[in-house]
Amino acid sequence: MSSTGAGPGVTPPWTRVAEAEQAARDRLPADIWDFVAGGSGDESVLTGNLTELNRITVVPRVLNGQPGGVRLARQLGRSETRMPVVIAPMAYQRLVHPQGELAVAEAARAEGIPYVVPMLSSHPLEKIADVGATLWFQLYWLRDRGVLLDLVRRAEQAGCRAIVITVDVPVMARRPRDLRNGFALPADVTAGNLDDTGPTTHTRVPGASAVATHSAVAFDPAACWSDLEWLRAQTELPLVVKGILDPRDAVRAAERGADTVVVSNHGGRQLPAAVPSCAALPPVVERLAGRCEVLLDGGVRTGADVLRALALGADGVMYGRPVLWGLAADGGAGVRTVLGLLRTETEEALLLSGCADLAAVRQLTVARTVA
Ligand SMILES: Cc1cc2nc3c(=O)[nH]c(=O)nc-3n(C[C@H](O)[C@H](O)[C@H](O)COP(=O)(O)O)c2cc1C
Repeated sequence: MSSTGAGPGVTPPWTRVAEAEQAARDRLPADIWDFVAGGSGDESVLTGNLTELNRITVVPRVLNGQPGGVRLARQLGRSETRMPVVIAPMAYQRLVHPQGELAVAEAARAEGIPYVVPMLSSHPLEKIADVGATLWFQLYWLRDRGVLLDLVRRAEQAGCRAIVITVDVPVMARRPRDLRNGFALPADVTAGNLDDTGPTTHTRVPGASAVATHSAVAFDPAACWSDLEWLRAQTELPLVVKGILDPRDAVRAAERGADTVVVSNHGGRQLPAAVPSCAALPPVVERLAGRCEVLLDGGVRTGADVLRALALGADGVMYGRPVLWGLAADGGAGVRTVLGLLRTETEEALLLSGCADLAAVRQLTVARTVA
């Protein structure tokens, strides 16, 4: 992860999200910090997401006075959202705070943005739904399609507003930090929606990640486009396909009924040679030509990053690790602080670029600086 420059023990209100990152790092046990912060391979994809996004510059317009302020609200995945941001699915949030997904859902509700509950949430979906936030539910391709279908039905019954299928994990990539730590879940953190993870996820094995061991057993590396057609036919809910980088795959997903694609390399946690997600975005947007909605994740940290993503043609972003930093550092209040900061920064970014609304951002000129 990037060096934050923030000193230890920075308490909220944070003025930069990097302060939340530092506070989380100070607070978390080293192996859990590594699970959250780490990536696959030599972590060049993880850092590449950040550096490439920072190379995107936007040419502001002037004298577009905005007496009414800026308008950030829009629909994403057919859900109303107060800003073009959705909280990314991230497994086992009780790892970083006992309230875990419940606290994140509460912050999402307060902020008026959708929250993608991960299949591997550490509270049951129904309990998270009781909080009353706008929820989307994320799935992996489980080998057992019966269990997968049961999860879709549970999501519908719990009032989820979209199904997210993650397509970039045929197997979980080698994540060296987790291997080195022999990472396993603490006894009190379990997969709240599955009853068959058994002792696997809690058993520390030197040189292995228990989370990866479980996924190797449970996930289906043979999933293909006909499986997406099958899933599309199972539910009326909007379908979000997460983990697209090639424009040809984006078109295939749209042709099979995806409402939204998420251009993502899983935060640098999967293919160690993957293209930075923001570099993959413009060709996807161009090839889709409006056939479906496009979200970006990977390295989005600030309101300036939201502006960059929108100017590159995304309809919105998924916000990942910073949410866990806020949660680890200060529970639900920390998540609210991080989300509030992102909203304030995004409003400011629009105002300073002469944009009254999100449509105007799309018209801005983008330039990529060379290293
Ligand atoms: C700790 C952690 C757990 C994650 N778990 C999942 C998951 O269960 N399902 C999924 O689709 N993506 C998962 N992701 C990937 C995120 O949804 C998102 O793509 C990524 O975090 C974006 O990168 P960023 O956090 O650097 O912005 C996880 C990411 C992290 C950091």
